[in-house]
Amino acid sequence: MQIKKIGVVGCGLMGSGIAEISAKAGYDVVVVEVAEEFLKKGLSRIETSTQKAVDKGKSTAEERTAALARIKGSTKMEDLKDCQMVIEAVIEKMEEKKKVFAILEGICPAETILASNTSSLSITEIASSTKHPERVLGLHFFSPVPVMRLLEVIRTIMIRDDVVEAGVAFGAAVGKETVVCKDSPGFIVNQLYLPYSLVAIRQWERGLASMEDIDKAMMLGLNYPMGPFTLMDFVGLDIHYNACMAIYEETKDPAYLPPLVLKKMVQSGQLGRKTGKGFYDYASK
Ligand SMILES: NC(=O)c1ccc[n+]([C@@H]2O[C@H](COP(=O)([O-])OP(=O)(O)OC[C@H]3O[C@@H](n4cnc5c(N)ncnc54)[C@H](O)[C@@H]3O)[C@@H](O)[C@H]2O)c1
Repeated sequence: MQIKKIGVVGCGLMGSGIAEISAKAGYDVVVVEVAEEFLKKGLSRIETSTQKAVDKGKSTAEERTAALARIKGSTKMEDLKDCQMVIEAVIEKMEEKKKVFAILEGICPAETILASNTSSLSITEIASSTKHPERVLGLHFFSPVPVMRLLEVIRTIMIRDDVVEAGVAFGAAVGKETVVCKDSPGFIVNQLYLPYSLVAIRQWERGLASMEDIDKAMMLGLNYPMGPFTLMDFVGLDIHYNACMAIYEETKDPAYLPPLVLKKMVQSGQLGRKTGKGFYDYASK
């Protein structure tokens, strides 16, 4: 089946990025939100992001206009009925994802490929809640979607090979490098990255070194573009904490259990760059 039209459910940070890169790659895109105000916000994020690309000389004004014209925003799930692939990017809650997939099953034909962009939930559990689990896969993009080069393509034990192949081909079409990974909490990147970041917090807590020096050590010693504290602040400590907890709940592996200090920071609203304070203080910056 040729994929011409992509559906995206959720036009938040990730959904708007997925809609943007799909439209830039020449796909027609329908992006659905729960309410008009969220849709407006998501679409204006795409307008700003594509304008930045023009300003930086990464695309032309004509390409931007053509890409924006390919995106249709909607608040009705029925508008996804003629998409060949639908990518879900709603909030990270299993019940919400299952609800979305149940609605999609009622709207889309049985051959439509259904994907989730979840970071930490089980693709197997989402797929198992549907009547056709063989057409469900994970497409895990990274933030910011237009910039980050990787796409993790997640396969369950129930999936058809051609669905995985379609995911890989879609990744290449939208300009990403792909890796194929079995469905397992955190997939490749977060399974490695999250325990590493928590070790950094524990090193700092026991006074091994300052957080500035831990960041500096990882940047200069391993050529990482950002140290762990800078990266956690960048991503948002709430997102980081929830991702760790989701994997911990699933695996009971203590490597994913966040130190208490992270929980306290989240509870007190110190969420990183977005609130002006996380591990570092951004108020003066
Ligand atoms: N933020 C990241 O760095 C990142 C990276 C990779 C994957 N993810 C995953 O992507 C997904 C989305 O994350 P995000 O950061 O974009 O969140 P977000 O909160 O920015 O966006 C979620 C959007 O989904 C909308 N939504 C909720 N329920 C909906 C429904 N039933 N129908 C349509 N829209 C609905 C919300 O209104 C919101 O705008 C999550 O599963 C998250 O784990 C996030």
